[in-house]
Amino acid sequence: MNAISPASSGSSAAVRSSPALWQQLQLAAQGLRAVRAGQSARAVLQLWPASLRPGAQALLYHGLRHLGTAQVLREQLATRKPSAQVDALLCLALAALWQPDAVGYDDFTLVNQAVTALRKQRDTQAQAGFVNACLRRFLRERTALQAVVAQSPLAQWNHPLWWIEKLQRQYPAQWQAVLEANNGRAPLSLRINTTQISRGDYLAQLQEQGMAAWPVQGSGLLLTQAVDVRQLPGYAQGWFSVQDAGAQTAAPLLLEGLQAEDPSAPLRILDACAAPGGKSAHLIEHALAIGQSIRLLALDVDAARCERIHENLQRLRLQAHAQVQVADAGQVAQWQAHLQGHRLDGILLDAPCTASGIVRRHPDVRWLRRPEDVAALAKTQQYLLRQLWPLLREGGRLLYCTCSVFHEEGQDQMQQFLAQHANARLVHPVQHGLPRYFSAVQAPAAGESGDDHDGFFYGLLEKTTGTGTAGDCPDA
Ligand SMILES: C[S@@+](CC[C@H](N)C(=O)[O-])C[C@H]1O[C@@H](n2cnc3c(N)ncnc32)[C@H](O)[C@@H]1O
Repeated sequence: MNAISPASSGSSAAVRSSPALWQQLQLAAQGLRAVRAGQSARAVLQLWPASLRPGAQALLYHGLRHLGTAQVLREQLATRKPSAQVDALLCLALAALWQPDAVGYDDFTLVNQAVTALRKQRDTQAQAGFVNACLRRFLRERTALQAVVAQSPLAQWNHPLWWIEKLQRQYPAQWQAVLEANNGRAPLSLRINTTQISRGDYLAQLQEQGMAAWPVQGSGLLLTQAVDVRQLPGYAQGWFSVQDAGAQTAAPLLLEGLQAEDPSAPLRILDACAAPGGKSAHLIEHALAIGQSIRLLALDVDAARCERIHENLQRLRLQAHAQVQVADAGQVAQWQAHLQGHRLDGILLDAPCTASGIVRRHPDVRWLRRPEDVAALAKTQQYLLRQLWPLLREGGRLLYCTCSVFHEEGQDQMQQFLAQHANARLVHPVQHGLPRYFSAVQAPAAGESGDDHDGFFYGLLEKTTGTGTAGDCPDA
């Protein structure tokens, strides 16, 4: 039996010649323990040996998407609480047994390999018999346990209860669709670098290699199959970036209709929270596509992540249009000199947030966040908005965005900001973009929307003369 491919790739195609399942399970269980201790899955995966990573990642991601179910099942099956490593392995095995087809192993193999994984480790071998009994009981009582799962919101939706309740309050009509989309798998979404190649020509290149894709946004393509992006045509030449379709809204939204204050000078744009540079690159690509020259200052507080901006801009051949600085965007005095006395035509504030909109790509996020994080991040977001606003010229635009569906990080921010800034006007009605899940298995049929994107919020503000009184956000 072979393991599923990495869940982030969105495919359940089998990975050939994968290492033993028990080894993958052991590693995935260590990963789950680390996530439960507060580490991001991405950070954990980076440390894993390349040979084990695809299979173990697939098991971990599947486990994270079904962790609520697994925990409820474990409570039913385990008479005592196992140690952290054993519990993680038991939960991963239960998640896999819950949907064996999705994981690609039969029941016998899963039970056998989970028990082997415990036997092979000195500190867990004593509990192998206990786990064996739990898993075999699950197989015997599967039908009855399904009824238990159906009664539990945690098991049914695989999100923490506080998260489910927040969505129920904020989206009474859509909360179930949001949770369902969160539990889906994101397709591979590309943004074509139109300074290098047109979308049509790139699509033709993909088709020549037998790959199907369909257009999204102005320059995006959704691929119907999961592939290693480094193997796609033109990766090294910078022909494309990987970027969710929702994130591809930012650059056109900020730049369309925006003119430089001095028509003989380039557009002066700040990307305040820029790493790893996805939207920075798109801002440059889009400005050039609409015939605008651009000078972008990209800031990020995280030096290592700033390196990623450099790498990405270099691969995309866009570095000549940008300056990258490690800086806290809120500490304006520390980096303002890089503006050389100019005020900004546009600001992109892609603020740090809970990431509640990108759960399908990052299935660990729902388990990592705590309810109190929402208010703390909302405070930071409002602080950054206030600090950056004075740098914008009159008639200039600030695009505030987050990859969150929580109102506190989107519409409430706009409402608060507009109530306190008489010189701000909302250009677009305020609306959260809820995650939309469209099956990536095949292209949309004629007349069908192939719309598939993460959840996000965009609020586009324009600086006015500010003679009126500050008012409420009209659509919040
Ligand atoms: C949502 S991510 C940005 C994603 C990026 N715009 C893109 O499209 O690739 C938020 C970023 O904000 C950065 N950040 C957090 N607080 C910051 C601050 N005070 N100043 C500058 N950057 C900050 C984080 O390091 C993180 O890289």
